[in-house]
Amino acid sequence: MDYLKHPVGTDRMPDLTWTIAADGIDVMQTAWQVQLSQSDDFSELIYDSKKVEGSESAHVRIDQVRLTSCTRYYVRVKVWASGEFDLAVQEQESGFCTPASFVTGLLNREWQGEFVSAETRADKSNSKGTFLRREFLIRPGIREAYICATALGLYHLYLNGEKVGQDQMAPGWTSYHHHLCYQTYDVTKQLCEGKNVIGAHVGAGWYKGMMGFVHERNNYGEQTALLLQLTVRYEDGSEQVLATDTDWIGCDSPVTFSEIYDGEYYDARLEQPGWNRTGFVPVMDDCFHRLTKEAYDALARDPLLIPFSDEEKKAQRRTAEAYVPKTTAWHPVETVQYSKEVLTAQPGCRVTIETEIPAVRLFMTPKGERVLDFGQNLTGWVRFTARQKPGQLLHLRCFETLDSQGNAYFDNLREAKAQVRYICAGYGEVCYQEQFSFQGFRYAKLEEWPEDAVCADFTACVVYSQMEETGHFSCSHPLVNQLEHNIEWGLRGNFLDIPTDCPQRDERMGWTGDAQIFCRTATFLRNTWPFFKKWLKDVACDQTPEGGVPHMVPDIMPFHVITDWLLGQGTHSAAAWADVAVINPWVLYLTYGDKEILRLQFDSMKKWIDFMKEHAVGEIWNYKLQFGDWVALDAEEGSYFGATPNDLTCTAYYAYSTGLFAKICRVLDKPALAQEYQALYERIVKTFQKTFLDEEGVMKVQTQTAHIVALYFGLIPERGVQKTTEGLKRLLEKENGHLVTGFVGTPYFCHALSRNGCVKEAYDLLLKEDFPSWLYQVKAGATTVWEHWDGLKPDGSMWSPDMNSFNHYAYGAIGEWMYRVIAGIEIDEEAPGYRHAILAPKTDSRLAWAAGSYDSVYGSVSVRWEEMDQRVTVTVCVPVNTTASLILEQGASDIQNGQQNVKEIVFTERKDGIKQAELGSGTWAVSYMRAQETAGM
Ligand code: BGC
Repeated sequence: MDYLKHPVGTDRMPDLTWTIAADGIDVMQTAWQVQLSQSDDFSELIYDSKKVEGSESAHVRIDQVRLTSCTRYYVRVKVWASGEFDLAVQEQESGFCTPASFVTGLLNREWQGEFVSAETRADKSNSKGTFLRREFLIRPGIREAYICATALGLYHLYLNGEKVGQDQMAPGWTSYHHHLCYQTYDVTKQLCEGKNVIGAHVGAGWYKGMMGFVHERNNYGEQTALLLQLTVRYEDGSEQVLATDTDWIGCDSPVTFSEIYDGEYYDARLEQPGWNRTGFVPVMDDCFHRLTKEAYDALARDPLLIPFSDEEKKAQRRTAEAYVPKTTAWHPVETVQYSKEVLTAQPGCRVTIETEIPAVRLFMTPKGERVLDFGQNLTGWVRFTARQKPGQLLHLRCFETLDSQGNAYFDNLREAKAQVRYICAGYGEVCYQEQFSFQGFRYAKLEEWPEDAVCADFTACVVYSQMEETGHFSCSHPLVNQLEHNIEWGLRGNFLDIPTDCPQRDERMGWTGDAQIFCRTATFLRNTWPFFKKWLKDVACDQTPEGGVPHMVPDIMPFHVITDWLLGQGTHSAAAWADVAVINPWVLYLTYGDKEILRLQFDSMKKWIDFMKEHAVGEIWNYKLQFGDWVALDAEEGSYFGATPNDLTCTAYYAYSTGLFAKICRVLDKPALAQEYQALYERIVKTFQKTFLDEEGVMKVQTQTAHIVALYFGLIPERGVQKTTEGLKRLLEKENGHLVTGFVGTPYFCHALSRNGCVKEAYDLLLKEDFPSWLYQVKAGATTVWEHWDGLKPDGSMWSPDMNSFNHYAYGAIGEWMYRVIAGIEIDEEAPGYRHAILAPKTDSRLAWAAGSYDSVYGSVSVRWEEMDQRVTVTVCVPVNTTASLILEQGASDIQNGQQNVKEIVFTERKDGIKQAELGSGTWAVSYMRAQETAGM
């Protein structure tokens, strides 16, 4: 339902998708029936579609239902399908499937309360945690109960002392002033008759904490706040609503500081056991127990008692009270005015602890540092257990890599402190994990820690947005498998509510280019529809009035005067970055076959194309700050900007996005617009050719990236394709077979080769093991993908610490080539969503086998091939209700049907000599003799 198994908190009737399992072959759905009920036995139906003739089984819209807010609904489906069952063509009728359920949020934004804050305006200069609390009574006879909640900042919710839901870092990071998500929780089982207590722990997060290049606080507001509504429905039909209002009380929590980059300070001496339970008596004391001058000085002298470094203390001495532990007295909350029009339900794809990894070793570096190794570069936090003494400081700092001497290396974190400082309150064991921050790390240095620490005391909690796993790829080459692992961990590390560039240094922002480049790979690996749908809304929200697309979304730049050397030149509309507005919706449409995303993003896409049109000179597009072929190796020494001219990369993307937009207009049945933008596209292509190609249609600019984008985007006229491909091969040879490409060229390099008859050369590139290459990183011990090819150079030195992330998914964009070409799982643009798949694996003798699968909206599409003595055996699975073309490699001969085939696959020979067969659903196998491997062309 809406691409989630059981959406909780939706603001509409979800679109329905079901997959069909059937034993037969060539099975297609002929009819379906959907029923909706408020009970899982379907004794009373709210809706019954009755039998509907048709083959639609993905994103089926049911318009006729009127839903009530905060209610659970059950849905079940049955289908009729025809196909070949037991060697005879027949129609079969299924039973109803196991019901799935969904819960509605506040469908008409019927919020009854206000945002409330335990902070005051005076708290604008800190990033502390606060508690909020409300006691209330519940009558007997609860039928169902739901909480809808959100925060300005971050929140954890508790009901009678137990955490509500599994959410972390909620409500995530959106373009808060235009779009703030709220989460819905089913609390039916957590409520009890009589007295109950809701507690919320609120922190600064992205809303109020320091973020971005500007390194400033209060980007969205100066006060954290909570908005919550509990709806209880009783068996007798009555309803009770409790909302945040001035009856709530609040106080400071033991989190004395928490921000995204710097980590968390926790003073356990400020704990109030039971603060979120019944029976707790809050001390309502408005006379502040500020520390006396003597006590304050004593604290300042004793570093163990104050959770700040000397440097920080010095800096803060001027605003002395900022670090004096505050009282834990409770006080009435303040209301905070904030529009509720911007609230939208977030039914799934919440951030949670997805995996836990125990520390693999605790060791001493040559410098004598005590360091933990988790064996995997990841994003999240360290959960630790320690045996404490009162007042003792536990202090650790997270980091990604060791330096060439094997010591802790923090330089590439730049300003991010990435630390946890925990002050113990008493004796006995403590267990803690950060609550309002996250770090990107493989290692943690124990800066201050009791001597008795052991490895088993530490676990890494891996934190990211919940998305169903959809893709699997493996092959006989262990280094390629490790690369696949690294790509996947790049995703895990950077899909934390928004697609981030990297999770460790003082950035962690939604760089649009990175998200554009990696979108297709990510969408193989995970069901990204809810994730990108949510984020693309922010792309649209944060576009400039003229249609420019920010470099980062959510965009905090408009709130500041930018003096940064780079972004001072421009904060929006860079080619390849801003094109996320068109490319990502297109990738989602192709993958899921659902036009909804194109409709939702239509205005945003059109505005972006029109922005380029407005600012192009002729059809050459270029604008203020461009990143070009960012961090390419053909850049001048020490520069980030690759050698390919901006006019070329910009105009190539202008053409590509405009061409896609013309297609999108056709898909959405807007013929006049389609024609208009197709004509614009053709003009751009012509200008591109006139400007950048010679008379023979061959690229003048001698960089790999110029050739790659021109080939992949189809900007080379037919007559010049072969020569341009040869040109690319020459440039590759010049580098001894290595790529020197950056963000623009790298994602398409292998495609540009394999699409133009150079499959072997594309494999050569992928399988290169020496510097620079994907497998060089793997051999250097990478567990995620690096930002720079030369992040760690062969001589052990590193790229400058000013920008050297070891967990940057951008170059992981090679992942889609592995799925689309090695496994050969390709989408047919005419029947997207794998309704008709194109299965065309390309083998290479250096792999004995490869296997890829993708769980499409119709079911799993998979391809596996193995090769022995030139004979290739390919086994494919085509889901029910879909068809596929199986396309064999050039030169395939002696084709033999697999023994398990229920019926013979009949191949026809295309004009180009390639053999192709049409398949219905089922598992099919075929083997053939491969042509001798030759270098392309
Ligand atoms: C980020 C990139 C981003 C780039 C744009 C970097 O600092 O980490 O991944 O796309 O800036 O220039």
